[in-house]
Amino acid sequence: MKPIHVGLLGLGTVGGGTLTVLRRNAEEITRRAGREIRVVRAAVRNLDKAKKLAGDLPLTTNPFDVVDDPAIDIVVELIGGLEPARELVMQAIANGKHVVTANKHLVAKHGNEIFAAAQAKGVMVAFEAAVAGGIPIIKALREGLTANRIEWLAGIINGTSNFILSEMRDKGAAFDDVLKEAQRLGYAEADPTFDIEGIDAAHKLTILSAIAFGIPMQFDRAYTEGISKLTREDVKYAEELGYRIKLLGIARRAEKGIELRVHPTLIPERRLIANVDGAMNAVLVKGDAVGPTLYYGAGAGAEPTASAVVADLVDVTRLHTADPHHRVPHLAFQPDQLADTPI
Ligand code: NDP
Ligand code: HSE
Repeated sequence: MKPIHVGLLGLGTVGGGTLTVLRRNAEEITRRAGREIRVVRAAVRNLDKAKKLAGDLPLTTNPFDVVDDPAIDIVVELIGGLEPARELVMQAIANGKHVVTANKHLVAKHGNEIFAAAQAKGVMVAFEAAVAGGIPIIKALREGLTANRIEWLAGIINGTSNFILSEMRDKGAAFDDVLKEAQRLGYAEADPTFDIEGIDAAHKLTILSAIAFGIPMQFDRAYTEGISKLTREDVKYAEELGYRIKLLGIARRAEKGIELRVHPTLIPERRLIANVDGAMNAVLVKGDAVGPTLYYGAGAGAEPTASAVVADLVDVTRLHTADPHHRVPHLAFQPDQLADTPI
């Protein structure tokens, strides 16, 4: 069977990781997808920076060369931010291409519009990498837990802030120094305020709750408080009292709808989630049938995130191959099935 053609938007931390994983595990990935997943072009801003990693992969500085290329079947958006990412994704959909993205900001803010356009066009939009890096939490909610009425979910869903809190506790490190280290390791967002002020976690919580509770993306209605005001003393006192401070995203059914909140939380140190350290993430989900479940793994970084991007590529390839006329919106959010639940 002929290869499926992929265009990458961005070859930074996640784009680079995606190319590396696709190349290194090409044999297994081809076998699992049923055909070769071939990256045929990538868009970046700085050609010199990307040249070495790209090798013989053609590069362009114009991302529309990717989204308008008739030979490309799947566009992978890994540039981040709202614009031009939104315009590029909408154009790719209008051109009948499937989209894979790791951009939680984009999905939380414009997901409703994007999924409606994808559904109308009959293409897929997959976003496993947008929440909790390498943990397949979207798949778990959509597939593994699909029989359940979700009662609540709670998680450590920002690797940068968890890394900062862990290093402050274990090494007595200063907040600003650890943040710089998180940026160096590729964990932090382009604007790290999103990490330390709880905004990135609120984007992810918005996405998780949309899937878990069948509500539209309503990022603006999540209560959001980050870790920027915490000091080493706060972390130390919590430890002395037998607690750990964790930035949690919590979504639960309340009397009048679904409550969404992100804030630092004191957790007794004997709890599993209190011992999730560094850039690791963990998400607890309580379903009415299954009871409490826990998902744990790397929440940020090049290859853990690439693991989720490539899993989406394999899924989209399989579904596209099963139905080349694109009538397989399984991975798309279903706006017409949403309850109008006030938060
Ligand atoms: P980087 O900043 O490392 O990479 C961004 C890439 O996009 C670079 O190659 C950059 O090119 C390119 N780019 C930016 N703007 C444009 C543009 N207008 N046209 C063409 N290319 C452009 O970001 P990350 O890889 O860290 O993040 C990418 C996405 O993945 C974001 O949405 C982020 O939130 C998400 N994500 C990141 C995770 C992580 O651990 N880093 C984990 C999970 C999700 P150049 O370098 O030439 O400027
Ligand atoms: N900046 C994000 C984090 C990247 O630290 O969790 C992963 O989404």
